[in-house]
Amino acid sequence: MTEINSVTTLTQDGDVAVVTLNSPPVNALSANVRDGLFEGFKQAIASDAKAIVLICDGRTFIAGADITEFGGAMKGASLPDVQAQMENSPKPVIAAIHGTALGGGLEVALCAHYRVAVPSARLGLPEVNLGLLPGAGGTQRLPRIAGVEKALEMMTSGRHAPAKEALAMGLVDEIVPEGQLKEAAIAFARKIAADGKPLVKVRDNNTKLEAAKGHPEIFADFRKANARKFRGFLAPEYNIRCVEAAVNSASFDEGLAVERKLFMELMMGPQSAAQRYYFFAERQANKIPDVPDDTPTRPIAKVGILGAGTMGGGIAMNFANAGIPVVIVELKQDALDRGLKVIRGNYERSRGAVAEQTETRMGLLTGSLDMDAFADCDLVIEAVFERMDIKKDVFTNLDRICKPGAILATNTSALNIDEIASATKRPQDVIGLHFFSPANVMKLLEIVRADHTAKDVIATSMKLAKQIGKVAVLVGVTPGFVGNRILAQRQREAQKLVLEGAMPWDVDRVLYDFGFPMGPFAMSDLAGLDIGWVKEKSNGATIRDVLCELDRRGQKTGAGYYDYDENRNAKPSPVTEQIINDFIAKSGRNPRKISDEEILERCIYPMINEGAKILEEGKAIRASDIDVVWVNGYGWPVYRGGPMFYGDRLGAGKVLAKMAEFQGAMGDDFKPSALLESLVADGKKFSDFKR
Ligand code: 3HC
Ligand code: NAI
Repeated sequence: MTEINSVTTLTQDGDVAVVTLNSPPVNALSANVRDGLFEGFKQAIASDAKAIVLICDGRTFIAGADITEFGGAMKGASLPDVQAQMENSPKPVIAAIHGTALGGGLEVALCAHYRVAVPSARLGLPEVNLGLLPGAGGTQRLPRIAGVEKALEMMTSGRHAPAKEALAMGLVDEIVPEGQLKEAAIAFARKIAADGKPLVKVRDNNTKLEAAKGHPEIFADFRKANARKFRGFLAPEYNIRCVEAAVNSASFDEGLAVERKLFMELMMGPQSAAQRYYFFAERQANKIPDVPDDTPTRPIAKVGILGAGTMGGGIAMNFANAGIPVVIVELKQDALDRGLKVIRGNYERSRGAVAEQTETRMGLLTGSLDMDAFADCDLVIEAVFERMDIKKDVFTNLDRICKPGAILATNTSALNIDEIASATKRPQDVIGLHFFSPANVMKLLEIVRADHTAKDVIATSMKLAKQIGKVAVLVGVTPGFVGNRILAQRQREAQKLVLEGAMPWDVDRVLYDFGFPMGPFAMSDLAGLDIGWVKEKSNGATIRDVLCELDRRGQKTGAGYYDYDENRNAKPSPVTEQIINDFIAKSGRNPRKISDEEILERCIYPMINEGAKILEEGKAIRASDIDVVWVNGYGWPVYRGGPMFYGDRLGAGKVLAKMAEFQGAMGDDFKPSALLESLVADGKKFSDFKR
């Protein structure tokens, strides 16, 4: 065995050389890895071996470029040099793939002459999710091997294709048995050499591109079909342009030059910076300073859910989807039946494998009207009405019924979890698990740590969140926790703006253009204006009251803030406009013209300021955790990183100056937080904040 460098070895098995990478955690293409590959292949080519296998140790094949190196000075061998070394090798090169071959990893594999993979391997070009495009020839090689349509779909979705699909696409030449990758790849390589098979260079095969030549409609149709999904993002469009260049350029190298230029443009731009930041923010959120990775966890083999309403049903689905049995308890049989029926309906309406597994998943759910059914559960999550007296009563009962060590969780959206925990004799076992609606779809889970929550309860909850496919963020007890507390700022300003002269559709348009999926008024119409509205108590005190009194309760009644046609398309409503104008007249004020800039600043700056207060009070561990909450739970556009990242982009000084200006004009809703002031004084950023 030759040790090429600290992450690369070269061995020989008979007449086959094997270059092995071992650079945990994911064999990313750091300078060291590139150097190892370059030198390893050089020596393998110079050896008497007849073929060369590239394989990785650890959990995965190369998972891409090393993202931590982006933006820094380039060191070591360049990736194109490594790729040229492989592709121009006079001996067949075979990439042996397990885990994930992603981004630069797949681009390296595409410079091998053949690829073999185990059935569990997945391959993809996920650069788009980092606001980028594949910058090492992937945009030119993937359409050559998989065809233009498939390449467009793979590159703009960033999807990881399973080995079987990769085989059908031609990305992989052979699937080999799980656990036997190395032996099988060596045998494959030996046979290729013995049979004198050609050294296939993906770059030379133009057949699939020819088929797309003279068909610009392929691209036009693709853009049109995905316009909604791509709105606001630069990277999908740039990926498409690269595939267009592959089809329309006179040579591979000409297409490669387009790829290079557009890659650099994205890399230097603000969107990719935000999306790369967000990639690490999401992973950072798993790290809790006083709950280290090796904190023991409690086994969760069975889950109880109390309440089969909107949230309880959705929460139950998460566990059934992960194969964990669930018992759901309701007050009355009809509520239980209704809840289970909704779950079944959700499964049946799903696509593909999920729908096929409806019976298996339903089989994991049992219903009961008796809380004693929770006696053998390891975790119980209550999702009953949002009232402190009911929650406390429920927790008193859970304390009595549940076995020692069971985790007792509440899905409350705003109540004080310390107070809820005080109803038990085991507050160390009580935690908030704040799911978002629809709970079977939304990725975000706010895990709420109360005063006495035990560390192993936190560690177990974080681990479980991963198991059920959620992005978890640990937050503290505060009204509305992190997400809703910040949302309240935006909602307040949106309402005030309307009473000063902006129309709901003006506010919505500005926030939509900023990148939110919809504005606050469209959102209210979708959710139903009558949530929390009580007819008997309604006295026309708010615009919402008046709308509900007119039976304008949102989309479901065909009218709310907006008017809706039969396809639920929204139109600004003259009725709403009149109601608003009447309100303003009654208040004795004159409506004024409010600029888009003011709308945006009034909605967004107080959110950033509230985030700062949350940090100051220790209700979030770090600024990036707040961003993870807002990107996953509230549709903050990921290409703007999140409210705190955005605040850093603007600069704390600018945020403070605007808050102070608004405070002078409009009062203490805009009072700057102490943290904001101290960051400005110290010339620091939100991302520098550490408690
Ligand atoms: N560069 C640097 N670090 C990386 C990395 C990368 N490409 N991919 C993962 N990591 C790090 C993570 O930050 C994490 O670090 P931590 O333990 O300190 O938090 C660690 O590796 C493990 O990652 P995950 O927690 O995400 O592990 P999973 O097993 O859940 O997922 C994965 C593994 C699917 C490979 C996932 O990490 C992933 O999607 N990685 C990014 C893949 C990617 O985007 N590749 C393209 C990069 S851009 C590129 O290649 C440009 C090229 O075209 C020139
Ligand atoms: P819901 O009204 O749809 O469902 C509540 C269910 O609990 C009802 O089916 C009711 O019969 C049942 N229930 C009430 N008391 C019970 C008891 N003592 N024992 C057994 N079942 C009981 O309410 P929803 O929307 O599901 O909310 C539940 C909880 O989740 C609330 O705390 C709410 O604040 C929180 N939440 C709601 C979100 C939403 O968007 N709806 C989002 C996040 C949290």
